[in-house]
Amino acid sequence: MNICHGLLFLLVLVTISEGKLNVLLIVADDLRPSLGCYGYEPLITPNIDLLASQSVVFNRTYAQQAICGPSRASFLTSRRPNTTHVYDQHTYWRKRRGNFTTLPQHLKNNGYVTFSVGKIFHPGAASGKTDDYPYSWSVPPYHPSTQQYKMAKVCTTLTPVNSEI
Ligand SMILES: *[C@@H]1O[C@H](CO)[C@@H](O)[C@H](O)[C@H]1NC(C)=O
Ligand SMILES: *[C@@H]1O[C@H](CO)[C@@H](O)[C@H](O)[C@H]1NC(C)=O
Ligand SMILES: *[C@@H]1O[C@H](CO)[C@@H](O)[C@H](O)[C@H]1NC(C)=O
Repeated sequence: MNICHGLLFLLVLVTISEGKLNVLLIVADDLRPSLGCYGYEPLITPNIDLLASQSVVFNRTYAQQAICGPSRASFLTSRRPNTTHVYDQHTYWRKRRGNFTTLPQHLKNNGYVTFSVGKIFHPGAASGKTDDYPYSWSVPPYHPSTQQYKMAKVCTTLTPVNSEI
């Protein structure tokens, strides 16, 4: 079983384009907030700190459940696991407990075009084997190949806070 530990580290980037808000939600788990942007000095993390400086950083976040599927179902539906009744990696909240509207679904229902890249919902049975498409997403979710991109250069247009690093 693919077990992910609970703490979610979230950054939401909001930029203004043609007068309309764009929303970029980056979701990662299996992490602790041992990062410069959380005031943790032993680790030097200039790129994530630069991203954080342009973002909303949530300082009071908690693990709803110590695995990723229930945690993601929880915050993406804005309901605790004791409401979604999702406690494992293969239960789909829409079938288990309720046809709850998700955050991306709400945006999609209000004129946004929504895309999912990589792991937003826990993939597989936990999100109806579709990453909750088409409810949450305008186009089928995209899962980039880990092997293809694992050594690729990233953030090529960002200047690190401390370029000596
Ligand atoms: C979150 O914590 C960081 C590091 O302690 C701090 O720099 C930042 O101001 C805090 N943000 C909010 C919204 O409290
Ligand atoms: C879920 O747990 C929270 C925190 O313990 C509690 O306040 C809430 O009443 C519970 N909800 C349900 C539906 O049991
Ligand atoms: C769940 O809600 C969506 C709209 O948000 C609707 O299209 C769908 O039929 C609903 N499914 C069930 C099983 O009620």
